[in-house]
Amino acid sequence: MSIKTIKVAQSRLPQVDFNNLPFGKIFSDHMLVADYIDGAWQPAEIVPFADISVSPSLSALHHAQAIFEGMKAFKNKAGEVIFFRMEDNYNRMNISAERMCMPAIPHEIFVDGLKQLVDLDRDWIPTGEGQALYLRPVMFSSDTAIGVKPSENYKLIIMTMPTGAYYLEPLKVWIETKYSRSALGGTGYAKAAGNYGGAMYPSKLAAQHGYHQLLWTDSINNEAIEESGSMNVMFVFDDVLVTPALHSSMLAGLTRDSILHIARDWGMKVEEREVTVTELLQKYKEGRVKEAFGVGTAANIAHIATIGHKDLVMELPPLSERTFANKMYDHLFAYKRGELTDNYGWLVKI
Ligand code: COI
Repeated sequence: MSIKTIKVAQSRLPQVDFNNLPFGKIFSDHMLVADYIDGAWQPAEIVPFADISVSPSLSALHHAQAIFEGMKAFKNKAGEVIFFRMEDNYNRMNISAERMCMPAIPHEIFVDGLKQLVDLDRDWIPTGEGQALYLRPVMFSSDTAIGVKPSENYKLIIMTMPTGAYYLEPLKVWIETKYSRSALGGTGYAKAAGNYGGAMYPSKLAAQHGYHQLLWTDSINNEAIEESGSMNVMFVFDDVLVTPALHSSMLAGLTRDSILHIARDWGMKVEEREVTVTELLQKYKEGRVKEAFGVGTAANIAHIATIGHKDLVMELPPLSERTFANKMYDHLFAYKRGELTDNYGWLVKI
């Protein structure tokens, strides 16, 4: 299906410094827009990236029916565009849509639309170390009436942005034992915009004490570790890769899933299970916390250098000793760039 396309009169590409790509600030020339009106998706269009105008009564602004995805596209040495796990992102977007009482997005709008959008802006895909084209689909309710009920109209916009590293340094994370990111039965497993908004205040408090991010704990006992910031979290205890098992308050990250697949195939012992703060403190005292890192699409693999808890500041082993995360980072990047065999069928090339 060919999507109606209105191209920019003049590309902004020559103004972009590809050696300096702060995350989320530089947008490619075009975006995809599709509206859901009166119970049906209308044909998508690809148009120049531009501001949109909304009514002050836009329902998403009031009651937060808003979801998004984060995914990445790369370019291989032959100049082909490679999408990493796009079908999985598509499926997760619709899981989020269901949870937030929003309409499912048709495959031809999301997947075919992304292919055409990124093909058009393929020159925006950066190829430097750690760089990618970040793809950000967002859907929000667009009724212009204030009522706490599912909207009848929605807008999907997919924008893309060339990006480099998300975190510029190893992270200091604080174990959060007062505030929660989500709760069992809540919206934590969905990429609902409000999950991220609700995380900002406790993150700001931690930042005032010099911490980049939080280690979120469960909402009942504040004891089971769930995620780190907007990423999943993993540890290497001795020589075992350990990550909190998923449940309804946690996002099923695709980077998480990819790393678990690859680690198991490397023959590494992998455990998806409850990881408590007590266990982490105990293992640290015993010198058994070899590595800790956050994993996510935007951040890739983000080393955690320091974990703070009450009066204790746990300094973890130096990055040069993080054998697993360093090897996995290189492997995953080479995989996404199409330099390895696509054993898992995760790549789509155009
Ligand atoms: C991602 O990793 O892509 C995310 O969506 C997390 C964050 C940038 C909000």
